[in-house]
Amino acid sequence: MSAISSPLKAAVIGHPVAHSKSPLIHAYWLMQHDLAGHYRTIDIAPDALADGVRELVEDGYDGFNVTVPHKVAIMNLCADLDDTARAIGAVNTVVIQDGKLYGKNTDAFGFIENLKQAQPCILFDKPAMVLGAGGAARAVIYGLLQEGVPRIHLTNRSVNKAEQLAAMDPARIDVVPWDRRHELNDISLLINTTSLGMAGQPALEINLTALPRGAVVYDIVYAPLMTDLLSAAQMRGNPIVTGIGMLLHQARAAFHVWTGVMPEVDAALEKKVLA
Ligand code: ATR
Repeated sequence: MSAISSPLKAAVIGHPVAHSKSPLIHAYWLMQHDLAGHYRTIDIAPDALADGVRELVEDGYDGFNVTVPHKVAIMNLCADLDDTARAIGAVNTVVIQDGKLYGKNTDAFGFIENLKQAQPCILFDKPAMVLGAGGAARAVIYGLLQEGVPRIHLTNRSVNKAEQLAAMDPARIDVVPWDRRHELNDISLLINTTSLGMAGQPALEINLTALPRGAVVYDIVYAPLMTDLLSAAQMRGNPIVTGIGMLLHQARAAFHVWTGVMPEVDAALEKKVLA
């Protein structure tokens, strides 16, 4: 898509959604690139999704982001899904064209771009351990598989959800019981995708003793930014990556599909989002 000729009309839909940082991110890039438009938060309850989305189409929106709890339900309203959204089983970005919805998923891109920006020398040639098997884990694992990670150890409190996710690539994903999440001796990348460690949630209990010192530790939790997992990893000398970048980088790809401009994540934007 080429750069937009009319003001961008975009939004994020969710329930609740008022807390979303996405309007701030997109407003920053619109201004930086001298583009007209707006990006709003629109609260849509689950039973009002179809009507709410129809209103956006009728109002001439170019597209919208999708957050909890609509990422799976929105798929049924899409005329088509891209390969990534189909493989992940969720949509976080919609483009509206000729009154039709096209579903995409930019979360895997956001995760991988953040990782590469934070750790430019990272090689995806050794096993990774992923904690959690929810929606975020699906995007993380899809991204890792695309990068060629040879083996992913996946562990989750509910083993059946981990087994369902492992079906994405049974040859490369093995399910590890939750009580064996401390077995990290062959790991070069450890990723927490659970909500454990987030403000108001229980702590993530994990023993890092077996983790090689060179292994990168990534936490998708960004409130607080420096989680107990990241502090513990940093104290023993492991490289760490905070989770805020995933949010920022997934937004880049969405901005690109709506405007034709691929924006950058800079320090000023990161500071604004964390303020
Ligand atoms: P998201 O879309 O952000 O990934 P989610 O789909 O609700 O959110 O997934 C949350 C993840 O955190 C899941 O892996 C969940 O484990 P279950 O599948 O067993 O529910 C994990 N999680 C949440 N609370 C947890 C807890 N107290 N102990 C262990 N895992 C927990």
